[in-house]
Amino acid sequence: MKIIVTGGAGFIGGNFVHYMIEKYPEDMIVNLDALTYAGNLETLKSVEDKPNYKFIKGDIADRDFVFKMFAEEKPDVIVNFAAESHVDRSITDPEIFVRTNVMGTTTLLDACREFGIKRFHQVSTDEVYGDLPLDRPDLFFTEETPLHTSSPYSSSKASADLFVMAYHRTFGIPVSMSRCSNNYGPYQFPEKLIPLMISRALADEELPVYGNGANVRDWLHVKDHCQAIDLIIRNGADGCVYNIGGHNERTNLEVVKTVLRALDKPESLIKYVSDRLGHDRRYAIDPKKLETELGWKPEYNFDTGMQQTIQWYLDNREWWEHIISGEYSQYFEKMYGDRL
Ligand code: NAD
Ligand code: TYD
Repeated sequence: MKIIVTGGAGFIGGNFVHYMIEKYPEDMIVNLDALTYAGNLETLKSVEDKPNYKFIKGDIADRDFVFKMFAEEKPDVIVNFAAESHVDRSITDPEIFVRTNVMGTTTLLDACREFGIKRFHQVSTDEVYGDLPLDRPDLFFTEETPLHTSSPYSSSKASADLFVMAYHRTFGIPVSMSRCSNNYGPYQFPEKLIPLMISRALADEELPVYGNGANVRDWLHVKDHCQAIDLIIRNGADGCVYNIGGHNERTNLEVVKTVLRALDKPESLIKYVSDRLGHDRRYAIDPKKLETELGWKPEYNFDTGMQQTIQWYLDNREWWEHIISGEYSQYFEKMYGDRL
């Protein structure tokens, strides 16, 4: 089987490429990535010479490129991770989110129509369901929860989801979709909460917590996400959505304190800063469908997963120090300059 993984040089896509190359040596994994600020081929150094791996640089929203690539590669499966993925960036610059997340997805779907495909899998997010109130711990997102987005990021992802389902119904494209909660683990770009806090705590720099730190996210180790996607593309029903989450809800403040404790750093590094605009309060996934229909079970709980992740950042300083010393240092100044 030939699988094109779009966005394979990013955090989750990179972990998925590693996972698939190791698990299915008989399959060919083609990593298609535009190498935006979030794409990093260092993540794939250890697999670049494997016979079942190939990298192609390209933009999923570039129609000529995508059609030519489909004609040459003749993929069996597409797993679409490629996206602009950071909510804060979507607040300062929404347009690129429309281009990549919406137009990029529809361009891939058009190529699937033209050339045929066995399965198009859309990697979506729980953020398409909007947020839940903090005082209703009994409420969870199910696959039936209506889409109700808050940020330009989640709106672009929800829009892509609607196109995927429209192409399934209208043109009969075989599709599946997963909506996962917040991921953490190795190779996450240090603009996201957990790696940002690890890298800044190690440098004894202030840790910017938005608002009062009471917002809740439901954390899942990236390897558990990869395992779930693998199950869905092989055994998931055509045209179906699966929620992915492991019931690991934590407030942002709890997460930041976990990082500080693990690194033996003082809580005085925490700095409360002005809140994110439109900040979603709580995400919480009900993963029952995936567990009962496909037998998925997460391997990591939050404590063991965080320990492993923090150790990974300690053991792989070169990977992230290289990122924060470059262009990213200007991003931090621009995004947080007047908030700190
Ligand atoms: P990321 O930002 O780390 O990686 C995105 C990758 O896509 C990068 O390698 C980037 O170069 C590539 N890319 C961006 N624009 C492209 C384009 N036009 N053409 C080709 N490649 C392009 O993102 P991530 O955190 O790994 O997220 C991957 C996917 O998973 C996204 O679709 C995201 O919405 C979804 N998701 C993420 C999370 C999370 O917690 N990070 C949770 C649920 C779902
Ligand atoms: P993030 O990692 O950006 O993921 P998402 O917004 O997609 O859930 O943020 C996770 C949570 O952490 C979110 O509630 C915003 C908060 N946050 C901070 O408090 N400070 C920060 O510097 C960042 C990046 C996020």
